[in-house]
Parts: sequence; C-alpha cells; structure tokens
Amino acid sequence: MSINHQHKVIHIENLYKKFGDNHVLNGFNMDLYEGENLVIMGKSGSGKSVMIKCLVGLETPDSGSIEVMGRNMIHIGREELNQIRTDIGFLFQGSALYDSMSVRENLEFPLRRHLKKFEGITDTTPLVEEALTNVGLLHTIDLMPEELSGGMKRRVALARTLILRPKIILYDEPTTGLDPITSKEIIDLMKSIQNTYNTSSLIITHDVDCARVIANRMILLVDGINYAQGSFQELSSSNDPKIKAFFKT
Ligand SMILES: Nc1ncnc2c1ncn2[C@@H]1O[C@H](COP(=O)(O)OP(=O)(O)O)[C@@H](O)[C@H]1O
Ligand SMILES: [Mg+2]
Repeated sequence: MSINHQHKVIHIENLYKKFGDNHVLNGFNMDLYEGENLVIMGKSGSGKSVMIKCLVGLETPDSGSIEVMGRNMIHIGREELNQIRTDIGFLFQGSALYDSMSVRENLEFPLRRHLKKFEGITDTTPLVEEALTNVGLLHTIDLMPEELSGGMKRRVALARTLILRPKIILYDEPTTGLDPITSKEIIDLMKSIQNTYNTSSLIITHDVDCARVIANRMILLVDGINYAQGSFQELSSSNDPKIKAFFKT
C-alpha cells in the first residue's frame, strides 16, 4: 500500500446543495489522494449520499467544484462522464444483484456495458473468475442470488464493482445491515482490494469499527461542511463534543 499525497484523484471544493429549504451541503471540501482509504462519517440524513451522488453526476450541485482525476465533473458531457464512470466503482447502499441472473451473468453485465475498456476480449470468463476469486466466492459462479446469504450477495456486488478495474471505489455504507462477522469480512476485503490494486477509496459509514480498521484518514460531515478531519486516533481522542458524539458506542 502506498499513498501518494502529491496526487489528488478527487478534489471537491465549496460544494453546496439544497432541496427547497433543506440546505444539505453548505460548502463541503474534500480531497482523496491516490491509494488512500478516506472515511466520511456523518449522522443519518447529513448529506453523505447526496455528496457521493454529486460526485458521480447523479445529482447536480448548486455550486462548487468537483474534479475527478483532473477533470471537471460539473460541466462534463455525457460521453466523457460515461468514460470516467468506468474508472469509478460505486458500491451503492444495499447494492442489489439482478435476481433473474446468475452470479456469472451479474458480473458479465457491467463488462458488456463497458466493452470499450476491454477491447479485444472475447472470453469474459477469466475476468469473472478473477473478480470472484478476489472476494473468495469462485464456487458461486453458477448460483442464483437467492441461493446466497446476505453477506455473500454483498461480496458478489463488490466483485461486480471490481471487475471493471476501477481506479476509485466509492462505498456507501458497505457494512450497514450486516452482522458483525460478515461486516468484518467485507472490511477485510476492502483492505485487501486497496493492497492488491492500489485503488483509492471513499468509504461512507457510521460504523466506528469499520472506520477504525479501514481509515487512513477521516472527515466528519457536520452541518453540511467538513467539520473535522484527521486520523481515527486524532478524532477519537478529541474533546470537542460534536466530534466525541461520533465515537460514543
Ligand atoms: N432527491 C432528493 N430530494 C429531496 N431531498 C433529498 C433528496 N435526496 C436527499 N434528500 C435529503 O437530503 C438530506 C441528506 O440525505 P442523504 O444524503 O441521503 O443522507 P445520508 O447522510 O444519510 O446519506 C436528507 O434530509 C434527505 O431527505
Ligand atoms: Mg446515505
């Protein structure tokens, strides 16, 4: 694992977003460095998902700037947006598999949509097998989602994200709804992905145990701004009541 602090893969500056009178983001700033696992923590409803949706173009911010790998995401054309998206893996909150497709077909699906990136590939099986091996689930290749446990589904969803070899992975609440043992499996996987592929990851979570294990650096989102940032150690030993509130269990 090596973090390159000279190279920002994501740069968010002064981001504002409101819905009617609900001012969700009020000047949010964030940098993600190459090779880094950055954890964003914030209360439920604080705007974490809105921020990540602005980042991938699913929501349009009211103002501010977003750069992903040096490209301005706000006034970007369809074509270029689609191209950047192949470099960004997004593990949605809950991230569902297609129930009517086998595990193999679920993994082939993104490959077919982004064939350009894999020009010349005629046999997708090795890629599918590699992605499944990465999450320890090669043996499920011909199973249907209904035959998998909740944790296995989440791991297959992660394999489906990995198969496009993203440079950046966005995880929205990756451990929410999982039991502690399965959560730990997912967290270990996220760490091994960082080590194997040197991906840069943004991890949105309110799971303190997840943050402790995975975060190279953390940002606390409070009142729509990056209220505090630092290592888990630094933040969890803070005396600021607003910061302490995050680490109470
Ligand atoms: N499309 C939308 N229209 C209106 N309000 C929204 C929309 N998306 C999110 N919100 C509101 O924005 C706030 C932040 O939501 P969200 O980012 O989902 O929170 P969280 O931090 O839990 O992920 C909430 O008050 C939510 O109701
Ligand atoms: Mg959310």
